[in-house]
Amino acid sequence: MKVGIIGSGGREHAICSQLKKSDKIHEIYCFPGNAGTSKIAKNVDIDLNKFEEIKKYILNQNINLIVVGPEKPLVDGLVDYLKKSKIDVFGPNKMAAQLEGSKIFTKKICEKYKIPTAKFGIFKNINETTNFLKNTSFPVVIKADNLASGKGVYICKDLNEASTAIEEIFNGKFGKAENLLIEEYLDGEEMSFFSIHDGKNFKCFGTAQDHKRVLEGDNGKNTGGMGAYSPSRLINKELEKKIIDKIIKPTLKGLSNLNTEYQGFLYTGLMIVKNEPYLIEYNVRMGDPECQTILPKLETDLFDILISCCKRKLNEIDIKWSNKKSLCVVVCSKGYPDTFDKNIEIENINKIDLQDNEYLFHAGTKIENGKIYATGGRVLNFTSLSDDFLKARESIIKNILKLDWSNGFFRKDIGYKVID
Ligand code: AMP
Ligand code: GLY
Repeated sequence: MKVGIIGSGGREHAICSQLKKSDKIHEIYCFPGNAGTSKIAKNVDIDLNKFEEIKKYILNQNINLIVVGPEKPLVDGLVDYLKKSKIDVFGPNKMAAQLEGSKIFTKKICEKYKIPTAKFGIFKNINETTNFLKNTSFPVVIKADNLASGKGVYICKDLNEASTAIEEIFNGKFGKAENLLIEEYLDGEEMSFFSIHDGKNFKCFGTAQDHKRVLEGDNGKNTGGMGAYSPSRLINKELEKKIIDKIIKPTLKGLSNLNTEYQGFLYTGLMIVKNEPYLIEYNVRMGDPECQTILPKLETDLFDILISCCKRKLNEIDIKWSNKKSLCVVVCSKGYPDTFDKNIEIENINKIDLQDNEYLFHAGTKIENGKIYATGGRVLNFTSLSDDFLKARESIIKNILKLDWSNGFFRKDIGYKVID
């Protein structure tokens, strides 16, 4: 079988690596991939906005299954487009992808189906928003409605901070803004809950906690994610049942009443307040770096799982997991999440010799004449599985120190809540 992965991050390298283990697959393609995927897959350099070129390539090569990694092509409708040509694709359709593409779409489903979430209001211009805030108590959370790579969210402790947020959003910092959202601030502990869906059935696909802030102690600017660990310390059977019954099932019912369904990975971002789950956001894909943290624990053939989803027979497969603890640390280019230099060589990367239960997934890298260069803000993901989180983190840090990359930095405190 031939399988194609859409995307070029650490998540996609982790998906490629997991699929590489399947004896049913003889060729993997990655669109466009990175230096890491180039070792196990054929990288195909096509712009992800060019749906027709992607489709032609898939049909020419007779690729049997496509897995879409990132949100943008999902929200833009790549799945619907490829399915029209009878290509098997794993990922949600354009309508279902609105769960991530529009926070207001999700909030309206929450309202209609009584899904626990922060109280919210939708506002259409600066005046309306400012007038509302004059009579509100702080902190509040202000969010752009668009896809904003995790950056369109402001936690504001006073009217001053709120004014900056409102201006930036309505001035188009995250794309044209017709609305913004103001939410009640939820004070609890975050957790990410993953599930996999075939349109009819779904199964849990692990839990994780990521660290979004750039600096140690969860300080500084928001990033795509500096590291993660799995499982979350909060999960237990009772909480899992609440998440499924109060949040996931009503959401699926909401989609079904809109005459659609959900197929793909679903990432439920939650705030747990006194053992009660509140929905913060949906993402219609695996998280990055949560995917690099969770997938190494998967013991069942990922290809079998994905094919069973395409056949709507996920209920017939038993998904097995290692019960080890997993931790992932992201090595970034100095300067990230602001400006950073690109095309800097990562000289010592070939000196890393991974032991059992250690993994290295590339994100923003490219290979040229056998040398590996950093091209993005988040560059490498080191994951380790162990009986405890501390040992996992120690083995990762040992490898990162061996890498000794002068243009890189990383957080040494990933997982501090489960370690210190
Ligand atoms: P989002 O992009 O909606 O996940 O928001 C990014 C981050 O902002 C979340 O991971 C939370 O840390 C924080 N956040 C978002 N909404 C809320 C809320 N209503 N209350 C508290 N924190 C929030
Ligand atoms: N790690 C957060 C995300 O993938 O959105």
